[in-house]
Amino acid sequence: MEAARRAREHAVATFSNFKVGAALEAEDGAIVTGCNVENATYGLTICAERVAMFKALSEGHRRFTRIAIVADTEEPTPPCGACRQILWEFGGDLEIELANLTELKGSHRLKDLLPLPFDARLL
Ligand code: THU
Repeated sequence: MEAARRAREHAVATFSNFKVGAALEAEDGAIVTGCNVENATYGLTICAERVAMFKALSEGHRRFTRIAIVADTEEPTPPCGACRQILWEFGGDLEIELANLTELKGSHRLKDLLPLPFDARLL
């Protein structure tokens, strides 16, 4: 959670000012972080969770256990639909821990957030 909070400080949230941090844990205990990165087209924005996953894959990690997601909000910030898909395909049934700057706000399994997923098994 602390790693996600630190990553959030690097968010490039130029347009929304909504900063998100994520910390993805690999099976070997390595923690790979991400933050959201916005750009002038808006639509090419990438969320903190996908940044963390793509960074981790690019560094050779392939198996994951959990991800922490942090925003400065009273209500927890769950992953968007696109991130749920990517997290499912590359991370499987991750534990998703949602927090703000001071406390844990919720804990979920990804399969509960993405029921009936489409993935490579269906191709
Ligand atoms: N965002 C994330 O990074 N993760 C989430 O789980 C929800 C949304 C980002 C995308 C955008 O930069 C900003 O938050 C507002 O939607």
